[in-house]
Amino acid sequence: MVFKLSVGLLALATAVSAANFKRVACPDGVHTATNAACCVFFELADTLQSQNFDSECSEDAHEALRLTFHDAIGFSQSGGPSQGTGADGSIMLFEDTELMDPANNGVDDAINNLKPLLQTFNVSAGDLIQFAGAVAVSNCPGAPRLQFMAGRPNATVPAALGLVPKPEDPVDMIFSRMADAGFTPTDLVNLLVSHTVARSDTLIDNRQAVPFDSTPFTFDTQFFLETLLKGNESLPAAAGEADAQVPNALAAQGEMRLQSDFAIAHDSQTACAWQAMVNDQQLIMTSFQQAMAKLAVTGHDVSTLIDCSEAVPEPQPAVGKPATFPAGTSASDLDLTCASAFPSLSADAGPPTTIPECIDGDTNINDCPS
Ligand code: HEM
Ligand SMILES: *[C@@H]1O[C@H](CO)[C@@H](O)[C@H](O)[C@H]1NC(C)=O
Ligand SMILES: *[C@@H]1O[C@H](CO)[C@@H](O)[C@H](O)[C@H]1NC(C)=O
Ligand SMILES: *[C@@H]1O[C@H](CO)[C@@H](O)[C@H](O)[C@H]1NC(C)=O
Repeated sequence: MVFKLSVGLLALATAVSAANFKRVACPDGVHTATNAACCVFFELADTLQSQNFDSECSEDAHEALRLTFHDAIGFSQSGGPSQGTGADGSIMLFEDTELMDPANNGVDDAINNLKPLLQTFNVSAGDLIQFAGAVAVSNCPGAPRLQFMAGRPNATVPAALGLVPKPEDPVDMIFSRMADAGFTPTDLVNLLVSHTVARSDTLIDNRQAVPFDSTPFTFDTQFFLETLLKGNESLPAAAGEADAQVPNALAAQGEMRLQSDFAIAHDSQTACAWQAMVNDQQLIMTSFQQAMAKLAVTGHDVSTLIDCSEAVPEPQPAVGKPATFPAGTSASDLDLTCASAFPSLSADAGPPTTIPECIDGDTNINDCPS
């Protein structure tokens, strides 16, 4: 009885999968796909990994991930389509215009690295940017596998200048800009999981690759912990005068904290969502996956797109190390505005370690800015 039932279910399951998931052979003779439109993305993934990212959570991978946001956020519900059509490749197709926005400082590297691929792969610029970001982050241990929907048309207009948030913007201005693009304050926290694999090349004079946390090549929760460590300098007096950064307790060790990350970590609307990320690997993964699925289709009717997520590589597994207070810091350095209980974490032993300005997942120094 039991045997017969399971055989019946198996036959049914097989029939359903044959009907829904009949795979097509791709022209490259290597891959098969659920939809012929996905074939090109398998090849693109291979090229991105071998030529752009070295299959690592490298500088070029970080920059490709950042570009997904700077393209997609060029969208305004209040301003309408003339202000930009979201994740549409406009930042690449109209780079001369959009790079005039100081908020886009530094994204030229990612554009220059990716743009030549438009000549060799028959994809739109918007698809290229969102797909490259998904492939890039798969190289960072602990990242979720991002959804990838294909079929964004090429942008026909540049995004208006001023739509990309800047770290020195007052937090309420950032929240309202995000709301105008369709994102809640919690969505923003979920998107800012990205800053766990981030470094600044532009904000501190004479320094490049200044990390936002002590583990910029690992998709872990250290970023959320370290942004909650108080700094040793007085905070900006008024929001309008805020600088791009607010030092945390690790500033002397070579780390930086964006003023916007500091403000969002402590704002009453977002502080508890921020704090909940600390030491919860599963939460950063699912939150980021959901928020990126939304970001990546900004300005599009999803029903017009084809799910090609199967072409996104399986991410590197998480390192599995719990969050820890970096050496020299402890719970007494926390500066919390959310009343929820804070997890009990151990501290790394030894003297404070200086964060290397230029390291990467392996030892490929070529991935570091010179
Ligand atoms: C309030 C919103 C945000 C602000 C103000 C902001 C600001 C910044 C700034 C100033 C940098 C440093 C750039 C440099 O000097 O090289 C940076 C880096 C980065 N951002 Fe954001 N960001 C925001 C949201 C996002 C989102 C939503 C993503 C997700 C896709 C993202 C991904 C990244 C990445 C991956 C980097 C590191 C780039 C690298 O290491 O080269 N950011 N961000
Ligand atoms: C490029 O792809 C589109 C569909 O995305 C297709 O209509 C077009 O024929 C393709 N062009 C070439 C040269 O393969
Ligand atoms: C999008 O524009 C780029 C650059 O002009 C071009 O190479 C590419 O073929 C276009 N793709 C589509 C799908 O229109
Ligand atoms: C504060 O941090 C700066 C680096 O931003 C460091 O040079 C300085 O020594 C620190 N001061 C104290 C009192 O810890």
